[in-house]
Amino acid sequence: MSQETRHPFLQGLSKHRGVQPTIITIFGASGDLCARKLVPAIYNLAVDNLLPADFYLIGFGRKPIPDEEFRSMASEAISSFSRRPLNKEIWDRIEKNTFYCSGGYDEEEGFQKLSDKIDSIEKESGREMQSVFYVSTPPSVFDPIVKNLGKVGLATKYQDSSKHTKVVIEKPFGKDLESAQNLNRAIQGVFQERQVYRIDHYLGKETVQDLLVQRFANSIFEPLWNRNYVDNVQITVAESLGVGTRGGYYEQSGATRDMIQNHTMQLLALTAMEAPASLDAESIRDEKVKLLKAIKPLKLGYDNPDVVRAQYHEGLIGGKKVTGYRDEEGVSPQSETETYAALRLSINNWRWQGVPFYLRSGKRMARRVTEIAIQFKRPPSSLFSENEMINLANNSLVFQIQPDEGSTILLNGKIPGLQTRTQPVKMHFRYSTTFGSNTPEAYERLVLDAMIGDGTLFIRGDETEASWNLITPLHEFWKSEGQRGIETYASGSWGPSASDRMLWQNSHEWRRP
Ligand code: NDP
Ligand code: BG6
Repeated sequence: MSQETRHPFLQGLSKHRGVQPTIITIFGASGDLCARKLVPAIYNLAVDNLLPADFYLIGFGRKPIPDEEFRSMASEAISSFSRRPLNKEIWDRIEKNTFYCSGGYDEEEGFQKLSDKIDSIEKESGREMQSVFYVSTPPSVFDPIVKNLGKVGLATKYQDSSKHTKVVIEKPFGKDLESAQNLNRAIQGVFQERQVYRIDHYLGKETVQDLLVQRFANSIFEPLWNRNYVDNVQITVAESLGVGTRGGYYEQSGATRDMIQNHTMQLLALTAMEAPASLDAESIRDEKVKLLKAIKPLKLGYDNPDVVRAQYHEGLIGGKKVTGYRDEEGVSPQSETETYAALRLSINNWRWQGVPFYLRSGKRMARRVTEIAIQFKRPPSSLFSENEMINLANNSLVFQIQPDEGSTILLNGKIPGLQTRTQPVKMHFRYSTTFGSNTPEAYERLVLDAMIGDGTLFIRGDETEASWNLITPLHEFWKSEGQRGIETYASGSWGPSASDRMLWQNSHEWRRP
């Protein structure tokens, strides 16, 4: 695929123009995400000339940090984590408009100071500006931050104009259905839904956006995209990393809350939803919600259940010995937290009736790979010998979300020679070959879209609740079971054998990515 042949649809997805004067305030600005992702994203937007001339950055946190110190923290973050090196001239333009405000997240006083700071920036620059509040703190303070923005009037500033305030909320969005509903209520008590941008950074990945383009800008797929031709769908989100220093967070979360409820379910929704009426945010989100609501409740228990959970034990990653989950820092030696989960889902609609959707995600797996594999049905057996039929692979279409971004179609081809012998062969499209490497990071796209006011790549309130509605009974079941039913897998493997057995029950097997 060359750039010239890309469908206008794709251009429609990139509305990278006309960002109005903006003040971004980051709550939790002394933290890991701000340094590793947010500040580098802002910097790279500046490099691409996508920031408005009037752009201001305010960090907010509990500890007082002088403006100068925050500026140095930001430039160090860019030097360490940006995909492009720090260019002094570009950074100078952002740096002079970078400030820090301190205050407690649950105390109105700091928010009043923030509001005064925003007023003074507007006064000095002589223009009104939209504010984007990026909540990048632990979830325990999402609620007070939102409420305090409401109390000091920042939430309703310029309410009826395009300069209305936007709030970006990080994940995890709740820990179950009830907490997600409570958080939605708190947010919606202060903001209108059009002001709210719930992040799932997977939606900002170039390849995830391309999934929509590949599905709907090509006429060859749609006729096959249903139960008549698709045998099963496999979505794998595997990481080779362990929990690292995030043991404390991960103990409360586990693979289903950390990865399945959000990133993996979003990949599923985009893969299986109907074509939206248009490409606007609401049409796409309506289709995702419809799809999520059509998933049948999971079968739990011990008679061929739809779920497998497991924890990694020690093993080898890249030839190096690594420790087991229960020995990680911040993890209980009796931990019941799953580091791997696999789900078998059935979608109760006309298109997908009878097609299993398998989802798996785990830490410390054989390698880092995220892919969506559409496995097509086998051809009828009339033409080939019994031996050849065994060799024939299911055709599959695989979207490689990361790394090595692209897509592959698996076909059966003839081995050259006098006999008719077949072999599976692959047709590849590689992003890096066609478009070059160094594509924008997910957070660049998402920060830009929030500034523009485009919610297409963010999660709507009802979407997150639909997803929790499926996952919450699973957590309640696991909680009631305690240690029972937790499988193990060696670090560096493809997960527990129980997960393979779940697929064998349907005469399927996991692809080896
Ligand atoms: P951190 O743990 O680094 O916390 C961010 C900041 O929040 C800290 O610097 C601190 O700032 C403040 N803070 C920390 N603990 C508390 C607390 N208990 N109560 C109140 N404030 C606290 O978080 P991250 O930067 O890693 O993540 C921020 C958000 O982004 C989280 O919601 C996380 O789930 C999400 N996220 C993070 C990812 C990552 O890779 N880091 C990936 C995906 C999502 P101060 O003391 O200055 O107030
Ligand atoms: C985050 C999870 O949302 O996504 C992490 O909290 C995980 O546990 C990360 O490592 C994976 O993101 P990516 O973009 O590296 O695949």
